[in-house]
Amino acid sequence: MTLSHIDLTNPDNFLDGTPHEWLNELRNEDPVHWHEGSSGAAFWCVTKWEDLRHVSRNPALFSSQRRGTNMPNPRMEEMMRKHAEQEGAAGVMAEMQKQAQGAEPGGFPIMLMMDPPRHVKFRRLVQRSFTPRYVSGLEPHIRELARSIVDGVVEKGSCEFVTEVASELPLQVICEMMGVPEEDRHEIFEISNRMIGFDDPELGEDQSERAMASIGMFAKATKVAELYRENPQENLTSFLLHRDIDGEKLSETEYAAFFLLLCVAGNETTRTVTSNGMKLLIDHPDQLQRLVDDPSLIPSAVEEILRFEPAVHHFRRTATQETEIRGRTIKEDDPVLIWYPAANRDEEVFEDPERFDVGRHPNEHLSFGIGEHFCLGASLARLELNAIFDEIVPRLRNPELAGPVRRLRSNFINGVKEMPVRFDPGKRSAS
Ligand code: HEM
Repeated sequence: MTLSHIDLTNPDNFLDGTPHEWLNELRNEDPVHWHEGSSGAAFWCVTKWEDLRHVSRNPALFSSQRRGTNMPNPRMEEMMRKHAEQEGAAGVMAEMQKQAQGAEPGGFPIMLMMDPPRHVKFRRLVQRSFTPRYVSGLEPHIRELARSIVDGVVEKGSCEFVTEVASELPLQVICEMMGVPEEDRHEIFEISNRMIGFDDPELGEDQSERAMASIGMFAKATKVAELYRENPQENLTSFLLHRDIDGEKLSETEYAAFFLLLCVAGNETTRTVTSNGMKLLIDHPDQLQRLVDDPSLIPSAVEEILRFEPAVHHFRRTATQETEIRGRTIKEDDPVLIWYPAANRDEEVFEDPERFDVGRHPNEHLSFGIGEHFCLGASLARLELNAIFDEIVPRLRNPELAGPVRRLRSNFINGVKEMPVRFDPGKRSAS
């Protein structure tokens, strides 16, 4: 059996959408597969539901901290190596030692890339603001925002769905939670686009663009901090500035990295799921009709959209010691990539997994991850998605594509850049 035609390292192979056929092939033919891609990166691909859970729930074996959570990038590593050579061999050794000891990959003290016990302490700082109970308090406001977003397009009978509908709700909500002033919100949007779109030539050149975008976000973090340093309020930025971990406040870099994580994670993913969800409903008019006839199915439709087109294609872990999955020997320091779209279509768990079924039950998809790093924003994202589809389904009637869908060139995020949609014009809501 050869799987050498599969190349998950080239973002071009994701331009027409997630390469589900390849991922299904991997899961069925060689579920723990050593993949060598055209970029020069090599890593294990874990594609079964059970195995994704095993890897995610064992941070002591599969670390997020040792080498971060991104796909290995030989070009970036080469750039860093050359840079280090210029600095002298001592610099390289010091950097390698730092990495091996689990210091921040790329210098980012970011919770997503930490292991316990440090991870737990960081997560605790903000956890309370994301509990289902806390988030449910935001529901009336989130529903009001969703209504006004759909009000903004409903009379026109057409819109550019990604910017006019999908992006707005997550952007406004996370910025409000962070205490970002209104005039800065669209810059947060631009910067997080550039951070996620590092493989898309339209959004920037390569990893250096990502570095520039992070600098932009750090500047924004500093500006927002000024508002709340002396005058803390009930928002996440104030918590990050004033709460402490074991008696110590976050350093400037820790604060800025946290700010960046919350802004980017709170923005891109929910927007992506909203856009892909709209496309799925347009492509499956029978399923859309089920929702129009019975809106009580919208919560299960949201779960099915999450399962069918997860926002994140993969995250990475690094083996901390030799271990085995399904009889395959994984050596210490091997990169292990967990592929969410593959796990979500595992026939051993999901009946007829290729069928998009808005009434699917049970639906134990893994799109929010599981274990130590289970998505902090899952309850918030679910609320936002339910609120927006509760407005879209009854009010944007008979939707169809009004032009080509332009997708993000990325093997990390299942993003949509542009999706013109037309529908029957309707009335603004009374409120
Ligand atoms: C539909 C929308 C979303 C999806 C599909 C999603 C997906 C994920 C996934 C798969 C992870 C696990 C990462 C890992 O295991 O390494 C994660 C973590 C995370 N997500 Fe989300 N996410 C979404 C929305 C949000 C929102 C709205 C926020 C709000 C701030 C958020 C904040 C985070 C944070 C902070 C983490 C890191 C948690 C940790 O390291 O403990 N996410 N997300």
